[in-house]
Amino acid sequence: MAVIELDRVGKFFGSGENRVQALHEISFAVEDGDFVAIIGQSGSGKSTLMNILGCLDTPSSGSCRIDGVDIAALDADSQAALRGSRLGFIFQRYNLLSKLSALENTALPAVYAGREKKERLERAATLLAELGLGNKLKNLPTELSGGQQQRVSIARALMNGGRIILADEPTGALDSASGENVMAILSDLNRRGHTIILVTHDPKVAAYAGRTIRLSDGRIVEDTRNRPFRSFAGERNTATPRKSSWLAEGVDRFREALRMSLQAIWAHKLRSLLTMLGIIIGIASVACVVALGRGSQARIIADINAMGTNTIDIYPGSGFGDRRSGRVKTLTVSDAEILAKQPYVMSSTPNTSASGTLVYRNVSVTAQLSGVGASYFDVKGLEPASGRFFNESEVRANSSYVVIDENTRNKLFPGGERPEGRTIFFNRQPLRIIGVAEKKDVGFGPSDRLNLWAPYTTVMHRVTGERNIASITVKLRDSVVPALADKAIVELLTARHGKTDFFTFSTDSIRQTVENATNTMTLLVAGIALISLVVGGIGVMNIMLVSVTERTREIGVRMAVGARRINILEQFLLEATLLCASGGLLGIALALLLGAAVESAVGFSLVYSFDTMLLAMVFSSAIGVAFGFIPARNAARLNPIEALSRE
Ligand SMILES: Nc1ncnc2c1ncn2[C@@H]1O[C@H](COP(=O)(O)OP(=O)(O)OP(=O)(O)O)[C@@H](O)[C@H]1O
Ligand SMILES: [Mg+2]
Repeated sequence: MAVIELDRVGKFFGSGENRVQALHEISFAVEDGDFVAIIGQSGSGKSTLMNILGCLDTPSSGSCRIDGVDIAALDADSQAALRGSRLGFIFQRYNLLSKLSALENTALPAVYAGREKKERLERAATLLAELGLGNKLKNLPTELSGGQQQRVSIARALMNGGRIILADEPTGALDSASGENVMAILSDLNRRGHTIILVTHDPKVAAYAGRTIRLSDGRIVEDTRNRPFRSFAGERNTATPRKSSWLAEGVDRFREALRMSLQAIWAHKLRSLLTMLGIIIGIASVACVVALGRGSQARIIADINAMGTNTIDIYPGSGFGDRRSGRVKTLTVSDAEILAKQPYVMSSTPNTSASGTLVYRNVSVTAQLSGVGASYFDVKGLEPASGRFFNESEVRANSSYVVIDENTRNKLFPGGERPEGRTIFFNRQPLRIIGVAEKKDVGFGPSDRLNLWAPYTTVMHRVTGERNIASITVKLRDSVVPALADKAIVELLTARHGKTDFFTFSTDSIRQTVENATNTMTLLVAGIALISLVVGGIGVMNIMLVSVTERTREIGVRMAVGARRINILEQFLLEATLLCASGGLLGIALALLLGAAVESAVGFSLVYSFDTMLLAMVFSSAIGVAFGFIPARNAARLNPIEALSRE
């Protein structure tokens, strides 16, 4: 029975003037179990013919059938599957993968054929032991002699059964003793039923074969049998490791690809690190910027909350900086009183203020006197550090009481004496101190200002002499929505004044403004950082393209032993993704480190969140997939013969 049938096979390369007809109308058949030597001078077309027999190339004309299947009719993946299952290659230059051990090199075809891991490693070890390499299983190709490497490649050819073994000048690179050893192994394999097709230009090597086909200028010029044909095909041991289930196969192949990717990345540590740098910086800056934005937002909002929660301030004029606001006389104490009666208002206090000179004994300083209602301290969340605050009836009675802050106390009473009961003079008006307000850290404005609080009635009648007030502070009930209350207040006061000659200002609205502003800033800077990520991605793509070029031969070998395009694509895509994902991981680590450094240096805490980290990881991996795709596709689309012939 013929395992290979060639019918008028022709093959040409190039076109037009460069057209080379390498093979002319080649027809012959190879019986199962035969040992054929193809000989001829250099350039006679031996390798070209061998590539067609090995299903690595297709004929330009005529047909080549392997086990009755026309190879020209198969797509790239089916050809790969055919190579993987029936054919075994032995190359002149061994073509072992340099990063894999003898055992792994031997087992490689079984990985792509989806054979179980344990069994395939066992079989590889057995094959190597039979070929006298039992003690070299873990050695890398560079740690083996030429003859030993060639024996590893014979073991690899037998891995999936090796029904047909194709050897192109297998002894070409070996000394005569190793060459004879290899030929003895091949003869032995033939006697155990393997079909062997061998290319050589050495008559001594050809003499091992049972049949010799001589090529000259792409034509068969001689086809002789050296001895009567006897097939041992019936005795062939075609046992191969068990096939795993499709799921186990997928997982196993992914694991192999992962291991090989890690090996490839590790083999070029510095290069990998430099490639990742763009991603590392990109991810670190995005993470830092987002954390910085959140940190400062949290800080500002804490400051705002310190100013009093759920309050609305009402000022005359159309806004801060309105120079005509001084002429608006309509905001009055009665406005504050009406507001206090509204259902959504907890309390309301009119405010007026005056700056002037504060005198106590021989100390004279500039201070700010605020005229406020009794509920002011509650609205602003102030607590007495000592003494007490004034009450409603004292406000109504124009009492000459004053509450000072801790700055003022320190200024006027540096000796630590009790301020309560002392009389101070503000713009020559005597005021009696009844309490000290605890200092409150409100992040805005100068904190060394001297503040005093007296009843607004006292300030209006005795200090400034004005009838209108500077502002009203309203504290809302807890359940009230600030925006709705704001609207109600505006409607009420507009009705009272006949026009909107005032404006409102709430902590809620600043909070929103701050949130919006920091979010916008964060988005903007993160966008810029994103550009660095894309640049990093291009770096990865560049290195992957280089890597594919460097490893073209490896890709060719993988394809020859049965790797399909998707396997190659997967391998390189995984490598790019891994590169970017590790970059992302390092970037996050860098960001955390920077955050810790900033916190310990300036005491400002960056707020990192798990979702940003996760997003950064997903994003960097996505960059790996996106920018790794083109190099990986280039690798997968390589032509196996071109890849194999690349240096
Ligand atoms: N990819 C190619 N493009 C163009 N011409 C090619 C290509 N491959 C082979 N040829 C040509 O086809 C002819 C046969 O080449 P082939 O490699 O089959 O020779 P060979 O018999 O294997 O020689 P050697 O003994 O030196 O290995 C040569 O003339 C060669 O120049
Ligand atoms: Mg050749």
